[in-house]
Amino acid sequence: MAYLITGGMGCIGSYVIRDLLNAGEKIIVYDFMQDLTIPRMVLTEEQLEQFTFVQGDITDLPHVLRTIQEHEVDRIIHLASWQVPACDANPPQALKIVCEGTINMFEAARIFGLKRVVWASSVAVFGSPEDYNYQQIENDAPHYPKFIYGACKSMNERYASHYFDEYGVDTIGLRFTAVYGVGRTRGMSSFSTQMIEAAALGKPYVSPFGDDAVDWQYVEDVSKSIVISCTCPATQTRVFNVKGGIRTVKEGVAYLKKLVPSAQITLEPGVFGISWDYDAEPIAEQVGFTPEYTMEQGIFKTLNRFRELAGLDPIQEK
Ligand SMILES: NC(=O)c1ccc[n+]([C@@H]2O[C@H](COP(=O)([O-])OP(=O)(O)OC[C@H]3O[C@@H](n4cnc5c(N)ncnc54)[C@H](O)[C@@H]3O)[C@@H](O)[C@H]2O)c1
Repeated sequence: MAYLITGGMGCIGSYVIRDLLNAGEKIIVYDFMQDLTIPRMVLTEEQLEQFTFVQGDITDLPHVLRTIQEHEVDRIIHLASWQVPACDANPPQALKIVCEGTINMFEAARIFGLKRVVWASSVAVFGSPEDYNYQQIENDAPHYPKFIYGACKSMNERYASHYFDEYGVDTIGLRFTAVYGVGRTRGMSSFSTQMIEAAALGKPYVSPFGDDAVDWQYVEDVSKSIVISCTCPATQTRVFNVKGGIRTVKEGVAYLKKLVPSAQITLEPGVFGISWDYDAEPIAEQVGFTPEYTMEQGIFKTLNRFRELAGLDPIQEK
């Protein structure tokens, strides 16, 4: 079995490469550039040699098709995307990369009859808490995207239904929340990783969203949800909410200060602007995924990985 991982040089992709290599799978990474900055934070030197890299652009359908054919790919993990700030800064290009790039994966799966496409949607398809009367957001709740990014992901979800209904293309979309962990360098919700890195390295950090309670979703759980989705039995539902656990930003800072009493983290007031409370029962029932990491476990592991990469001694658990 060969997996094509688009965006594999990014944060989530690096962990997926690691987990699939550990499972003995053949991997082809398809990305803009062979920039190993993030993979080096996650993979061993040996693992960096164990996958095939293809330089390409997901908007280039002929090249995507040629890559799939040449490498006998039978499953796609589609992670390449822009995130909120980049999409808002260039809406026409966001439509090309986030929407056209994803539709190209569905089209490739249709043409070659691939076994499955697992792709990253986002909870940014949903709106603010008041759009849902401050209730938990069901898996099939209506979409009220606040950003161009969420609007693009919402359109992709509609295309996924179309490709399944019309052509039987088997896809599983995963709506991730605020992913954190070593390697999370981009996106509006990367603040939690930045504050952990600052605490690990003894640097000051001013965190936004100090009045919010967000979903803390550790990147190793995210990778696990993707890997399980690649081979689980076909699902009735096309796209799933995937969550870690809701905790206040203040609780995250308090735990960091417990681990590192000298940490210089200050909180700015404010909220992110979207809801963070999602029903994740459907993915547990149909895919069999539930998260393993609490916020404390994820922060602890991330903190010590940042320290290890900087050549510093680990902090003891408290
Ligand atoms: N990180 C989060 O909190 C989060 C939350 C919800 C959803 N997601 C989704 O998960 C996926 C992966 O996120 P991530 O945090 O690993 O992102 P990332 O920014 O770390 O990695 C994205 C990768 O995609 C590549 N890429 C971008 N445009 C490309 C193109 N046109 N052709 C080929 N490669 C291209 C980039 O070079 C990069 O390596 C994305 O689809 C993102 O929208 C992430």
